[in-house]
Amino acid sequence: MEFSIKIGHSAKELSDCVIVGIYESHKLSAAAELIDHASNGLIAKVIKRGDMDGKLDATLMLHHLPGVACERVLLVGLGKEEDFAEKQYCKAVRASVKALDKSGASNITSFLAELSVRELEARRKVAYLTEATLDALYKFDAIKRKEVKPASKKGIANFIISVALPNEVQQAEAGMLEGQALAAGVGLAKDLGNLPPNVCTPTYLAAQALALGKTYHFNVEVLERDELKKLGMGSFLGVSQGSEEPPKFIIMQHLKGKKDQKPVVLVGKGITFDTGGISLKPGSEMDEMKYDMCGAASVLGTFKAIAAMDLALNVIGVIPTCENMPDGRAVRPGDVLTSMSGLTIEVLNTDAEGRLILCDALTYVERFEPSAVVDIATLTGACVIALGHHASGLFSNNDALASELLQAGETALDRAWHMPMWDDYQPLLDSNFADMANIGGRAAGSITAACFLSRFAKKYDWAHLDIAGTAWKSGKEKGGTGRPVPLLTQFLVSRANKLN
Ligand code: BES
Ligand code: MN
Ligand code: ZN
Repeated sequence: MEFSIKIGHSAKELSDCVIVGIYESHKLSAAAELIDHASNGLIAKVIKRGDMDGKLDATLMLHHLPGVACERVLLVGLGKEEDFAEKQYCKAVRASVKALDKSGASNITSFLAELSVRELEARRKVAYLTEATLDALYKFDAIKRKEVKPASKKGIANFIISVALPNEVQQAEAGMLEGQALAAGVGLAKDLGNLPPNVCTPTYLAAQALALGKTYHFNVEVLERDELKKLGMGSFLGVSQGSEEPPKFIIMQHLKGKKDQKPVVLVGKGITFDTGGISLKPGSEMDEMKYDMCGAASVLGTFKAIAAMDLALNVIGVIPTCENMPDGRAVRPGDVLTSMSGLTIEVLNTDAEGRLILCDALTYVERFEPSAVVDIATLTGACVIALGHHASGLFSNNDALASELLQAGETALDRAWHMPMWDDYQPLLDSNFADMANIGGRAAGSITAACFLSRFAKKYDWAHLDIAGTAWKSGKEKGGTGRPVPLLTQFLVSRANKLN
């Protein structure tokens, strides 16, 4: 599918379908107005008849309007004009794409980027439109047997985004490339999450990282069990020891900033399947624990996005990846593991394995002298109870870093919420037999998990994103969301903008 930018006239455009917006007040957008004028008031008539109310999400496909060059006109509801902001704009874009997907139209011209969305300039509007369009078109069919498509359905081949002014074209083209890069990253994160756990193993993730490095020319290293033993990663290896799949420790380096610029490090939890281990999880919905590598997927996705953008920043991605399985050799409740930091950990619940693999990664990354470290993990069910599926949980030992991430989430429409991590919670991790226990009881489960990690992140500015509620959807729409790739990418883009 090809995107391009153009200055179009909605009534004269020669494509299969033009997309124009209408507000709930029945006010027509400028592009809808031109079509209405050319067709002798047909749009106004349609509205008057009650076939299109302009509510956000509503769509209506019209065919063969007299005086209009294009065969189809898709009307999209924009809701209340005074409420029309980024979120509503993206919602309207998604609705339009879903409606197109049902049609046979193949060459599309959208006039939605001409709408005014608060104070947004063309670049941002086009970036949002491009990303939301590709995101709404995402389908995971890698595993399904190929179906034979009817000849009438060609799918979208060309997508033209019309902008209002000649001096906006260049900026719009930049926005289009940004949107495409982000969508590619989000798509990769979704794909990796959606793949079955017998395909998406630690070895598979390592191969994906190597392939990504090859495509975009950045350095990728994969450490094997022997090397991890030498490094003293007893905690990570403890989790992996119950699985037939070998653990992998992936290090990716996108070094496109100044030589002396300290890197941002992203660390992603890569449990490719979490059975709970000997503290076995209940059976219902256990299949969803294939998504327990979504932190890792978000790091890979973000690397794809920033590599495609050629972002001028030093970024290092680190992924500890293994399975959490019950087995004769598996770690037991009561076992004590020695982490790479030297701190000992009493494993009171083998299902609290994410923190056990992340803590060694957090110690490992000290060597990079990072300007900031952000870990991303589907860490706790408790985070889903606290925040549901709308916001990721954000924890940090540095308020400025936390604000940066919150702001990035707002801008990218991929929000996080700042959670407390006061010292008061730390004693919940006390152990009678080791330096700490790996669980802190039922109360404040996502906070005690973050407190556990904080003990290994004292040497740098660090933040932790608990994405247990945001990384995938359950039920009828089960599937990876690609979150928080938009947040992370925006965070890095903003950092690069500040530095350059
Ligand atoms: N991967 C899970 C967290 C999870 C559970 C995410 C359900 C999304 C949905 C994690 O490894 C886990 O099992 N955490 C335990 C921690 C507990 C044993 C302290 C949990 O949340 O129950
Ligand atoms: Mn678990
Ligand atoms: Zn887990």
